[in-house]
Amino acid sequence: MCGIVGYVGHRDAGPVLLDGLRRLEYRGYDSAGVAILEGENLTIRREVGQVSNLAASMPERTTSHLGIAHTRWATHGGVTRANAHPHADTEHRVAVAHNGILDNHQVIRRNLEAEGVVFRSDTDTEVLPHLIRKFYQGDPVEALRRALSEVRGTYGVAVVFADHPDLILAARNGSPLVVGLGEGENFIASDSHALVRYTRRVIYLEDGELAVVKSDDVATLRLSGGRAAPHTVEELEPVYGVEGKGEFAHYMLKEIHEQPESIARCLRGRVLPEEGNARLGGFEMSPRDLLALSRVQLLGCGTSFHAGLVGALSIEGLARVPSSAEIASEFRSRNPVIASDGLYLAISQSGETADTLGAVKEVQVKGGRVMGVVNVVGSSIARSCGAGVYIHSGPEVAVASTKAFTSQVTALFIFTLMLARTRTLSPHDASRLARALMEAPEHVRAYLASPGPIQEAVRLLVAARYALFMGRGVSWPVAMEGALKLKEIAYIPCEAYPAGEMKHGPIAMLEKGTPVIAIVPQDEHHERTLSNIQEVKARGASIIGIFTRGDEEAERLSDVALPVPVVDPLLTPLVTVLPLQLLAYQAALALGRDIDRPRNLAKSVTVE
Ligand code: AGP
Repeated sequence: MCGIVGYVGHRDAGPVLLDGLRRLEYRGYDSAGVAILEGENLTIRREVGQVSNLAASMPERTTSHLGIAHTRWATHGGVTRANAHPHADTEHRVAVAHNGILDNHQVIRRNLEAEGVVFRSDTDTEVLPHLIRKFYQGDPVEALRRALSEVRGTYGVAVVFADHPDLILAARNGSPLVVGLGEGENFIASDSHALVRYTRRVIYLEDGELAVVKSDDVATLRLSGGRAAPHTVEELEPVYGVEGKGEFAHYMLKEIHEQPESIARCLRGRVLPEEGNARLGGFEMSPRDLLALSRVQLLGCGTSFHAGLVGALSIEGLARVPSSAEIASEFRSRNPVIASDGLYLAISQSGETADTLGAVKEVQVKGGRVMGVVNVVGSSIARSCGAGVYIHSGPEVAVASTKAFTSQVTALFIFTLMLARTRTLSPHDASRLARALMEAPEHVRAYLASPGPIQEAVRLLVAARYALFMGRGVSWPVAMEGALKLKEIAYIPCEAYPAGEMKHGPIAMLEKGTPVIAIVPQDEHHERTLSNIQEVKARGASIIGIFTRGDEEAERLSDVALPVPVVDPLLTPLVTVLPLQLLAYQAALALGRDIDRPRNLAKSVTVE
C-alpha cells in the first residue's frame, strides 16, 4: 500500500527520492508525488498513475538536498492529482507524506475550515500540514507533537519545512518507518527496501516515537515528550540473487524460479539429518517448553493463512499436538480465548499486514505466547513478536506471493519436526524426514526445469467461465492457494473445496468442460480423491490432474496431466503448489493481465 521515502544530505534529492519510490512500487499504489526544498521554497509535484509519470514531470536534476516522496493507495478520496501526497499547508511552508488513516479528520477539518483554512483535497491527511502550520512558532518538533496530539488513528508521517533546509521529521503510530543511516546523509522510508541502494544500516522507529533526521545527525524522541529509549542500529539482510527481474519477464516468474534457493536458505543450518532433529534458534523454546505445549494456533491472511493451514495439519498429524489455523482478521475481532500453555504463530511475508499484527497484539494482551514466521527482517510483526523464525525468501516483489509460501511451509515443517521429535518421532523417522526436507530444493528445481503441459491446461482455464480446485488433507490448502493465485492475477472466477465436500454442493456448478484442478499426490487421501475425480469427470468436468509422477491411475483420469516429483507425503505442498503457480502466471499472461501489479491489490495490506 502507501509508501514513504525521505532524503536529506549531499546528493541531489530528486533522483534519490524517485529511486526509492520505484523500489516501493511493488507495494501497490495509484499515484505518486514528491516535495523537495528548492532554495527557500517547497516544490511539490504529484501525478496519478505510475512513478514513471511523476519522473517524466520532473527535471532530470534538481537543486535540492532535502525532500520527501510518497506512493498513494487511495482510501479517503478518489485517485486524483489533488489527493496524491505530499500535502502542504496553504502557504506551502510545511509538506507531509502520510501512511495510515486519521479517524477524526472530519472533525478537525471542520474546525480548521471554521478558522478559514481552505482544503484542496478530499484526503484525511491534509489536516496534518494545516495543523502543523497552525502550531508552528519556530519549533518544528513542538508543532508536530501538538498536531499529532490532536489526531486519532494510525500514521507513519514524514514532514519537511521550508524554514528548515536540513531537517526531516518522521513519526510513527501503527505504520512502519525506518531511518537509514548514511555518511553525511540520512534517509527515511516506510519499507527498508527503498533504502538498500544507499545504506544497510537502519533503525526502526517504534510506535509513539518521532525521529529528527538531519544530514549529519539522527535523534529519536517520544511523541509524548522527552527522548526515546536508545535504538540499536540494525543491518539489513543481504540482497539474495539478482536484483531486478533479471532474465524473466515478470517478478512473479523470477520468484517462482527462485524457490529452489529460497527453500534451501530456509533449511540451511536448521535441519540436522544426522541428529534426527531440527533447530530454530529464534524460537527460544527448549524441548521441555515444546513438550508442555497444549496447542498451536497459526494466524495469517491470504497465502500466509494457506501456509498456516498446511502447518496446522502437519503439526497435528505428525506431532499430535492439537493445531489449527485461522484468518487473522477474524481471529482478532472475535475476542478469542487464548491458551496460556499454547503457542501462537503469526505468519506473514511482509511482516506488516495490519490484521496479522492486530492478531499478535490480541494474543499478547491476553498473556499468550506469540512468535513470528516472517520474511521481512525488522518488520513490525517480527519486532512485535520479539521471537520467531525468518524464512529468508529474499525480497518478494510480485503482489502474488509464491516463494514466500514455499518457505513459510518449509519453516513450519522444520517446526513440526522439532515438535514431533519431543513426542512422536523416533530418531530414525526424524532422520528420514530431515533428509527428505533437505532434498526438497532439488525436487523443486527438477519440476521447474520440466513443468509439463502447462499451456494445455491454460487453454482450458482461459476459455472457462468458472474453475474449481479440489484436494484433501494438505492438498486442500494447496488448492485454496492455487485458486487465490488464479483469481488474483488472472481474474478467472474460481474457488477451492476439500474434495470430500464436492457432493455437498459445489458439484452442481459443473457442466461440460468445466476445468477441475485436482491435487491428488500419493498420501493417505489418494484413493478417496481419485473417487472424487471420477465423480466430477462423470459430470463432464475436464480434469487438470496434479499427482505424483508414476501414478498411472491419476494420469488416466486427467485430461491434462501435470505430474510432480515423488516426495515424502507430508512434504507434497512444496511440489504440488508449483504447477498451480505456473498455471496462474501463464493464464494471466495469456489474458494480458498486469501480472506483478494486479488491479485493486497491494503487496502489503497495512490497513484493516
Ligand atoms: C498472496 O498472493 C496475496 N497477495 C495475499 O493474499 C498475501 O498473502 C496476504 O495479503 C498476506 O500478506 P503477508 O504475508 O505479507 O502478511
